Amino acid sequence: MNVLVTGGAGFIGSNFLRHVLEARPSWRLVNLDALTYAGNLRNLDGLPETERERLRFVKGDVRDAALLSSLFAAERFGAVVHFAAESHVDRSILGPEVFVETNVLGTFRLLEAARQGWEGAGRPEGFRFLHVSTDEVYGSLGPEGAFTESTPYDPSSPYSASKAASDHFVRAYERTYGLPALVTNCSNNYGPFQFPEKLIPLMILNIAEGKPLPVYGDGQNVRDWLFVLDHCEALLAVLEAGVPGQTYNVGGGAERENLALVHLLCDLVDARLQRPAGESRGLIRFVADRPGHDRRYAIDSAKIRRELGWQPRHTFEQALSRTVEWYLEHREWVEEVRSGRYREWMERNYGARG
Ligand code: NAD
Ligand code: TYD
Repeated sequence: MNVLVTGGAGFIGSNFLRHVLEARPSWRLVNLDALTYAGNLRNLDGLPETERERLRFVKGDVRDAALLSSLFAAERFGAVVHFAAESHVDRSILGPEVFVETNVLGTFRLLEAARQGWEGAGRPEGFRFLHVSTDEVYGSLGPEGAFTESTPYDPSSPYSASKAASDHFVRAYERTYGLPALVTNCSNNYGPFQFPEKLIPLMILNIAEGKPLPVYGDGQNVRDWLFVLDHCEALLAVLEAGVPGQTYNVGGGAERENLALVHLLCDLVDARLQRPAGESRGLIRFVADRPGHDRRYAIDSAKIRRELGWQPRHTFEQALSRTVEWYLEHREWVEEVRSGRYREWMERNYGARG
């Protein structure tokens, strides 16, 4: 099996590559990534030789139709797992255009390549296209209920609108052209290698460094948190056993208010750094709310549990402690991604490849 993974140098994509290289020793993986600010090949550093030799990196853009077409013709992919995206809501508010470019146009170009990029040889038997999407496409919930696969789309941010548009294209290609496509809509992920602009790594690092902790609005917004490895296992289950044309919601069943989560992170970091209990909570600053800020997300993942036998294997408290530990132990990685210094490392190690 030869699999194209887009965005494999980002947070979830790199965790997925690590997971699949280990869990599926006969698979070859091609990681197509443009290495934007969020992509870092250091996220794949330290792989055992037996795994590294089954991973090819191609530096390139999912919008590049000619590159996609040559890759599809040469590699004869048995599957595509599409992570590449602009992924941060706050950035989408400041500059929405690149979200349309990457998330909508990039997905469209990839779908086109999967539809007709095989140069006459035809699509391999059993081919599958897995589109990795978000629960944010469903909009905001009140205090009760959870998103199911049939909840109407109602995106609030340019990010979620661009992901919603890409989801619609994927489903349209399945219905119109018979492309064997599957969609997953997942809740907020956390874990190693997440770019430190997202809530959990940002807070861990600011707490450790004694910096202010910016909590948007009243801090009562709720997110449903999922450990990234549980998401990776769900994606592999959908890729292998999901039914083309179907959508699967993936959630952690771990709803937390932002303020309660920040309190917990303060306590975990304080304990780890042997500071007096409660000290870092004083760093919390309530700041202006994010425009269009969704109040609550919650996922009903009954379908993937029932049909594919998936369930999260990590508890929130254990995985969050593990995540805190990881960020405190990987300060060099943090400094590199913050400064962009990893690019020099990347040029040295991968400059001639791809
Ligand atoms: P990320 O921002 O950490 O990584 C995105 C990756 O895509 C980076 O490596 C980047 O270099 C690459 N990329 C960006 N534009 C590209 C382009 N034009 N061509 C090729 N590569 C490009 O994102 P993430 O958090 O790992 O999210 C991955 C996917 O999962 C996204 O599609 C996102 O919408 C979805 N998702 C994320 C979450 C979450 O909590 N992070 C939850 C649900 C779904
Ligand atoms: P984020 O990690 O950006 O994920 P998303 O917006 O995709 O859910 O934010 C998670 C929650 O934390 C969201 O309700 C916004 C809030 N938040 C803050 O309160 N302060 C921050 O500095 C950030 C980045 C997010």
